[in-house]
Formats: sequence, structure tokens, C-alpha cells
Amino acid sequence: MSEPAPGPRAIDPGDHSSGDLYRLLISMIVPRPIAWVGSRGADGVDNLAPFSFFMGVGSKPPMIALSVARGSGGALKDTARNLLGGGEFTLSLPMVSEAALVAGSAAPLPAGVSEFSALGIDQVEGLRVGACRPAAAALSLECVVRHALDLDSTHLFVAEVLMFHVAPGLLEDDPRPRVRDGATDPLARLGGADYAALGRRFSQPTPSAAAVLAAFAAAQGEP
Ligand SMILES: Cc1cc2nc3c(=O)[nH]c(=O)nc-3n(C[C@H](O)[C@H](O)[C@H](O)COP(=O)(O)O)c2cc1C
Repeated sequence: MSEPAPGPRAIDPGDHSSGDLYRLLISMIVPRPIAWVGSRGADGVDNLAPFSFFMGVGSKPPMIALSVARGSGGALKDTARNLLGGGEFTLSLPMVSEAALVAGSAAPLPAGVSEFSALGIDQVEGLRVGACRPAAAALSLECVVRHALDLDSTHLFVAEVLMFHVAPGLLEDDPRPRVRDGATDPLARLGGADYAALGRRFSQPTPSAAAVLAAFAAAQGEP
């Protein structure tokens, strides 16, 4: 007789370190979009760093959420310090072609060195915020922090989008702005040091409640 297939393994967060749990989370929650965040320090140095604990959370006003973990020994990363300070930042959505620059901008450079200049990334000043974005970025937002929550291992920032920037040719031909499906090649983060590009696209429209209930009734063999 064959053994029954094992059920899922239950993993209790209480048994694991912060680092182990981060490693587990980023291997489970995949793929993740990447926020390429431009911010400015009190010393005027422009900072650029990627964060994949990131999502859109509201539309009017448009809001995003972003989490910036504490660095080694609990120190604040430059981005967290800048967002807790001025609160203004840019957020660009990197493309697959920018993977090496994104990874490079995550390197812990010495204080006072800008990732823009170290990596040779042309920068452009925000219209509404005191922070820069990569000039070549296809999609960027200008944001201001509305809520900052200290969650011990990380800060969760909820920020309002004050301006959108979309590169030429990416919008639908429609007065209501929308990026054309398939017009961009977004870079996604997986676990460890792995990244992904979009694979096969398909449509799966949400059915009406009536259609769902009719299908359920049919499956139950009801008239
Ligand atoms: C693709 C990618 C995604 C990342 N996502 C996060 C994240 O969600 N949270 C975080 O704290 N660090 C994340 N990091 C690490 C930061 O980018 C890294 O610590 C960086 O040095 C922070 O820069 P800063 O000190 O200039 O803010 C990520 C790195 C990469 C390459």
C-alpha cells in the first residue's frame, strides 16, 4: 500500500529569525513588482534603491504602500531615513532591460555617494517632489508619505501619488489614461537573487454572480 501524500508543512514564525522569515516570505510571494525609489537626504544627496515589498493600495487619492526593512544592527536604510524626513520621493517601475542597474542600486554604497552618479543613471527632478527619478524610466510616480508605521523589522510607508509620468507611446489612444497591455516589459522579483519577466498573458474576466450561481447549481445537478 502506498503512503498517503504528506500534507503541507506548518512553519511557525516564532521558531525563526527575522532573516529566515524574510527569505521565506520573498520565496513565497512571487512574482513581486519593484519600486525603484528616488529620494533625497538632508545632505542633498540623491538616493536610488529598489524595494519589492510594494503595491498599489488606493485610487482616489492614488496611494501606494512600500516597506523598507531595517538594515544590519537595526540601522535605518537611506531610503527609510529620507522618507521619514522629507517624505517626498519618486517611484519608478523598472523594465527587464534595467535589471543590472536595479541590482546595482541595491549595493550599500558609502554615505554621501549617490546611486545615480555611481551607476551613471541620468536623473530628472520631480515636478511636485524634491527627489529625482531615472530620466529613462518608462513609468514613474511622484509620491509623498501620508502614513509611516514602525513594524520593528521594517517601516511601512503609505504614500499618495502626486504625479504620474508615462513615456511616449505607452498609453492607449483614449482620453482616460491607461498603459497599453503588452506595451512594457516589467521586471519582477522572485526569491533570492532571481528576477522574472512576464510570461504568457491570458484574459480571465470576472463572471457575474448570476453566472457563478448558475454554474454551481448545474454542478449540483439542480434544475
Ligand atoms: C530587486 C530588489 C528588491 C528589494 N526589495 C527590498 C524590500 O522590499 N525591502 C528592503 O528593505 N530592501 C529591499 N531590497 C534591498 C535594498 O534595495 C538595499 O538594502 C538597498 O541598499 C537600500 O538602499 P538605501 O540604503 O539607499 O535605502 C531589495 C533589493 C533588490 C535588488
